[in-house]
Amino acid sequence: MVIKSALIPVAGHGTRLLPATKSQPKEMLPVARKPIVQYVVEELVSNGIQQILFITGRSKASIENHFDHDPDLFRTLTEANKLDLLKEVDFEPLKANFFYTRQRLQKGLGDAVLCGENFAGEDPFLVALGDSILGLHAVSRAVSRMADVFDSKRASCVIAVEEVPPEETRHYGIVQPEEGDGADVFRIVNLVEKPAPQSAPSNLAIAGRYIFSPVIFDMIRRVKPDQRGEIQLTNAIQFMCEEGRRVMAVKLSPEEKRYDIGNFPSYFESFVEFALADPVYGAELRRALERLLAKSAALV
Ligand code: G1P
Repeated sequence: MVIKSALIPVAGHGTRLLPATKSQPKEMLPVARKPIVQYVVEELVSNGIQQILFITGRSKASIENHFDHDPDLFRTLTEANKLDLLKEVDFEPLKANFFYTRQRLQKGLGDAVLCGENFAGEDPFLVALGDSILGLHAVSRAVSRMADVFDSKRASCVIAVEEVPPEETRHYGIVQPEEGDGADVFRIVNLVEKPAPQSAPSNLAIAGRYIFSPVIFDMIRRVKPDQRGEIQLTNAIQFMCEEGRRVMAVKLSPEEKRYDIGNFPSYFESFVEFALADPVYGAELRRALERLLAKSAALV
């Protein structure tokens, strides 16, 4: 099965990345040469997605501008014969349709997904978090594998998961596999949002890609807000498990490692790794880093 529609929630304030995100969306921060959200869009399109709804918020207009056609830039680059650069800023060949709606109140990821109900209609759809890149250069095929599992297992939901160190479970939604956790595809029987390590049911974290049947919308409506007034998507998926619906996990492969841009340490590391892999500037950066590291080692 090919999933054709995706929601990309990008309404969050990005408070963990202030002051960088005071007046610009965290999804527009660059990782090497491109803004994060461009990698996400390229990954989705290469997995067959044709329609993308961004769930935005105030001060997120630059995302819409980024994917829009810019006639002035187009003319300038054409006249200067900078055709390579033109290719990199022209999204028409992606043949994707972009839609935008606003989540007016910050009521959590579950509420953001609910804003896509009319867009999704009766068909299964993908949710891709706008601050997570899968794989260096976003080469992941995980979404296609998830769509196959959704079909073959007649699932109501399929989630991408990845192993995290036990001390990091409190940053993620953590899933409980039906049995063991060795398989690449397995059934989930329970989920907990951001548990402490001692109460985490595993070290398998929800990795920012989900496929849902539209039944998720009714489940979200049943979720009560948490102490921060947020409607957690994880709790809505847990209702699916409780109803005996099939909720499946697909493990990311090592090449599909998730780059989480939601906090500074992980953003810095992602930037450096992508920049080192840059075909033009990577080698030069490697030499500069070696110099810097040698200098700081000499100071210790
Ligand atoms: C959200 C989800 C969480 C998931 C994480 C992945 O949390 O609620 O289950 O593991 O994204 O990045 P957030 O990072 O928005 O707090």
